Amino acid sequence: MTTLPGLLVSVEGGDGCGKSTQTELLRDALVARGLPVGPAGAPGMVVREPGGTEAGERIRDLLLHGPDGLTPWVEALLYAAARTQLVAEVVAPALAAGRVLVLDRFLDSSLAYQGYARGLGIDAVLGLNEPGLQGILPDATFVLDVDPEVGLARAGGAPDRIERDGADFQRRVREGFRELAARYPGRVRLVDGERPPPVIAAEIGAAVLRLLEARRV
Ligand code: TYD
Repeated sequence: MTTLPGLLVSVEGGDGCGKSTQTELLRDALVARGLPVGPAGAPGMVVREPGGTEAGERIRDLLLHGPDGLTPWVEALLYAAARTQLVAEVVAPALAAGRVLVLDRFLDSSLAYQGYARGLGIDAVLGLNEPGLQGILPDATFVLDVDPEVGLARAGGAPDRIERDGADFQRRVREGFRELAARYPGRVRLVDGERPPPVIAAEIGAAVLRLLEARRV
């Protein structure tokens, strides 16, 4: 939760969990209500991680298509670096201006993938990210919980560097997100991601509208 006037919502989950569909449906629902969604310079945009800035997109390329053999700490540092730039350039200014930001992945991906699944430790990876967060945490985080086999099959196409780690790794990622939901029950909510997309979207949309009413963004 941030003390800035805007609202920050992140959507998370394992690979192929349906985040892209859900972030777009949420964005559409919020835009339809006339809310100031996305960065001021790119209204209506869903912000994706890693990326969302020029430096972040280059770091993304290194992370997803770069050399094999990046150590887990290098991976964690690169994700944190991309995020630090995103917070400074995009997230903090948008929230300060009272805008509603929908993020396709944020801090919790690093906690689940690098902290839990890669075994670096959730607290250690949180500590690594904290200096770049400027005290900003999502107001709500929705984790689309799907069977990893279903997710990997859905992801399709040529697998990126992370997807090449396979189903065992994705199972640990899922456990990691479940651990985060238990740790941060007020912020991180598990959503059954194996239902039809409109049903999932209705659940997330209703929860975000309740938050907006409470915050009166
Ligand atoms: P994304 O583009 O969302 O891929 P997908 O659409 O397949 O979910 O994310 C890219 C990959 O980066 C994905 O495998 C998850 C991983 N990732 C991390 O390991 N740590 C992080 O902090 C983030 C943001 C992503």
